[in-house]
Amino acid sequence: MGLELTASNIVKRFGERELFSIEQLQVQEGESLHLSGDNGVGKTTLMKILAGLDKPCAGRINVTPNMKGRWSTSLHPKVIYLHQTPYVFSGSVKDNIAYGLKLKGISRGQIKRTVQSALEWARLEEFADHAAHSLSGGEKQRLALARAWVLTPGLLFLDEPTANLDKQSVDSVTELVRKMVDGGAAVMISSHQTNPLTEVCQRSLLLADGKVSESQFPKEMLFDA
Ligand SMILES: Nc1ncnc2c1ncn2[C@@H]1O[C@H](COP(=O)(O)OP(=O)(O)OP(=O)(O)O)[C@@H](O)[C@H]1O
Ligand SMILES: [Mg+2]
Repeated sequence: MGLELTASNIVKRFGERELFSIEQLQVQEGESLHLSGDNGVGKTTLMKILAGLDKPCAGRINVTPNMKGRWSTSLHPKVIYLHQTPYVFSGSVKDNIAYGLKLKGISRGQIKRTVQSALEWARLEEFADHAAHSLSGGEKQRLALARAWVLTPGLLFLDEPTANLDKQSVDSVTELVRKMVDGGAAVMISSHQTNPLTEVCQRSLLLADGKVSESQFPKEMLFDA
């Protein structure tokens, strides 16, 4: 059974300033959503709140199944947020992919096999022993996706995953995200532009003036225009 996330009456303020107030937002199993909006409207803040990395000033977020308690500051184990600037740990590319698996207490042999599969999945085999910090922006983004992939996310938040990437890297990231979606994960992608990656998405949400609105038009009409 897949994950379902429901957010209700989510309000975020910084001091006197209300960034957004969102009545209802739902993400269901296998869905792909594009969250668009101008710089500074609150896309990153909203996705971090939905992923459990930041707290709203008011409101509730429920993830089913397996949510412990009601609102919790800890992440749901199957909900993963990937930062706007891909975050890599010191150590090799392999070490980076193995990190989350070690935390889960998986056996060394199984970790080795899973890391190898992830390297192939993300086409990072040639970089396996390179220092992760030495990777290019596009390669780091693929590494971040590979690190998420080994944890089999049910819901993945990708924050501007194609910012600063050239066309070829956008295509590589798009291919990986498409594979995640085909594998059943729900994905929410924030981006202030449309590009080949956002075309993967079935739903289009716009964050503007502190509200989220859903496009009433079929996706093809938006992107083929
Ligand atoms: N901890 C904080 N304290 C005060 N203001 C903050 C804080 N975090 C974010 N903001 C403000 O909230 C607004 C929304 O920021 P956020 O990073 O969520 O926007 P964004 O839509 O992701 O922008 P971008 O497209 O540039 O990534 C910005 O004006 C930002 O300065
Ligand atoms: Mg942002």
